[in-house]
Amino acid sequence: MCMERIFIGVAWPYANGSLHLGTLAGALLPGDIFGRYHRLKGNAVLMVSGSDEHGTPITITAEKKGVTPKEIVDHYHAEHVENIRQLGIKFENFSRTSSEFHKKVVQDFFLRLYENGYIYPKKMLAFFCPNCNRFLPDRYVEGVCPYCGGKARGDQCEECGATLEPEEILEPKCKICGTTPVLKETEHLFFKLSAFEEPLLQWLSSKKFWRDNVLRFTQNFIKKGLKDRPITRDLEWGVEVPIKGYENKRIYVWFDAVIGYLSASMEWAKKIGEPDKWKEWWKGEAKHYYFLAKDNIPFHTIIWPAMLMAHGGLNLPYDVPANEYLTLSGEQFSKSRGIGIWIPDVLKKFDADAIRYYLAINMPEKHDTDWKWDDFVAKNNNELVAIYGNFIHRVLTFIHKNFGKIPSYKEEEKGEKLIEEVHNIIKEIDDAIGKCHFKDGMKKIMKIAQLGNRYLNESEPWKLIKEDREKCASVLHVCARIIKSIAIVSAPYMPNAADKIWKMLGYDDSVHEHGWEEAFDDIEPNQISSPAPLFRKLDLKDIIEDEFSKLDIRIARIVDVQNHPNADRLYVLKVDVGELGQRTIVAGLKEWYNEEDLKGRKIALLANLKPAKLRGITSEGMLLAADDGKRAYLLLPQGKEGSRIFVEGIESNPVEKITYDEFRKIKLVTKDGKAFYRDKPLKDEKGEIRIDGNVKDGCIIR
Ligand code: MF3
Ligand code: ZN
Repeated sequence: MCMERIFIGVAWPYANGSLHLGTLAGALLPGDIFGRYHRLKGNAVLMVSGSDEHGTPITITAEKKGVTPKEIVDHYHAEHVENIRQLGIKFENFSRTSSEFHKKVVQDFFLRLYENGYIYPKKMLAFFCPNCNRFLPDRYVEGVCPYCGGKARGDQCEECGATLEPEEILEPKCKICGTTPVLKETEHLFFKLSAFEEPLLQWLSSKKFWRDNVLRFTQNFIKKGLKDRPITRDLEWGVEVPIKGYENKRIYVWFDAVIGYLSASMEWAKKIGEPDKWKEWWKGEAKHYYFLAKDNIPFHTIIWPAMLMAHGGLNLPYDVPANEYLTLSGEQFSKSRGIGIWIPDVLKKFDADAIRYYLAINMPEKHDTDWKWDDFVAKNNNELVAIYGNFIHRVLTFIHKNFGKIPSYKEEEKGEKLIEEVHNIIKEIDDAIGKCHFKDGMKKIMKIAQLGNRYLNESEPWKLIKEDREKCASVLHVCARIIKSIAIVSAPYMPNAADKIWKMLGYDDSVHEHGWEEAFDDIEPNQISSPAPLFRKLDLKDIIEDEFSKLDIRIARIVDVQNHPNADRLYVLKVDVGELGQRTIVAGLKEWYNEEDLKGRKIALLANLKPAKLRGITSEGMLLAADDGKRAYLLLPQGKEGSRIFVEGIESNPVEKITYDEFRKIKLVTKDGKAFYRDKPLKDEKGEIRIDGNVKDGCIIR
């Protein structure tokens, strides 16, 4: 078979926060499985990605934290690099868009499009915040999506994924100060996307093999009509526009980031000392695959291809097998709403391969899939440990104890049949991975382990060893040979475990230096040492977290304040809790807050506290306040009513009702004028939760 050239582009994660499981399931893991598979197949793989370090996701995070954008991206880029290493994801180059090298490539690309007549200046209206006295590019505007009515942030709707023109958004608000912005004239450079409607449709007509959802989304998008898009922004952070008169503007983050695929390829070639080598992938015969989650589809199937066409002379995507979303107990991952599982957290608790296994077997290829902790534990224990790990462990312990080396094969009819069956499954796995059906491939690997276990049980080598040592040796030889196959075909999915198995089989090199075809070969008579278990059993109790996850703390807005008819010190409040509706709350605040102080104010409400009658009136929840022994201080959340107050890294898993005694054991305290649980600040979608007045540290919040 002749060698193929495979380029793999994995969507560049923003360097404004930690990686989460959604990014791993959607882009990094499928990209890595595919890359490792092709390297095993002997193909020439160039796999690149990097940190996406420009644009408003970064500047907004920096402003929120009161640091420079550079500090943010340096921190998270380093964290991404470390996490990618720990996860066993192998790139030829994982770069970053703030590098000088990248900027130069972007500017050259930009100029070439300009010279080719695909970039032109145009006056347009853009949002301007009269209060902040600045333009509000992209995520600086929040509002309602004109297509689906969902929450939109500037350039894209979070819910339906539609890409938005700056002024399309409904009910716009300045992200910084909440003011309604005005439209003001400004001049930007536009990319002539409209010129590519026909060429793109033409190109897509050869893409019948694409995933249905990707192809349909793309075709519909184009058929609605492609508009030219502004590709500069009024920002200071980003790649400078290489054209006179635009010194105060920067290139739009998406225009800059997708060129990263090219610049990271060039940078890799330069790093290995063969500066022209990238051309073998970008100009010669090579298949380009891009791995990403569905919100990134239009940028990879429309805008990037159009940019490449406008540039000319570079390879277009071959396939874009975009994934759907990974949800968490049914909800979409969202950093701003505190829903998510962050990679640095899970890596502290679990082996990378256990995570990779669960995500592979549960990959959101055709529809959204859900990460459930109980299911993760079940699949880890019942499949990875009990089937896969157990087969390997049983066989190798037995061989080690009774033979010391891989025993030799004489003959064994059943075993021969089994090997044939396994070889057929390996071909199916090959086919599945080649078509990016990763879930299917992983299931088939598990099936091999299952067949191995069954064969072992039926052959009963523990009896044979006494009755027919030669036959026993043959049975174990067959099993060892199957384990060798498993090690090779697992290498793309669980690179670390696969290599451990390889070494337990007595090889002293790495499985990753071998080839896929060796999965069909016989095994050598290696000496083996005592095998170590491959995977750990997990206990749900150790995972389901923290007591804090039991709490359902919501933002509520006080809409009405009445004196309690039967108690001098109590108010009866009506509060609006967004999606949870209106509630009546009894609160002892009268000595410190008067009616006017409270009306319209947002408070933190423990929404799942068991309702209790207080002097004849039922309180449906409890308002949280800090208490220094003398007075009460309200918490001051800023987000929308109904949204959650959370602690990063602790998954919200509220119980139906919590009693006051249970709640009291969960210690929320004040620190630096803010609310804390353990060493972590309570947060809402707008940031950390401050406390009213001058409260000292260490006061209990109740
Ligand atoms: N940073 C983007 C995101 O997280 C993805 C960029 S992909 C690239 O949604 F191709 F543009 F780099
Ligand atoms: Zn503003």
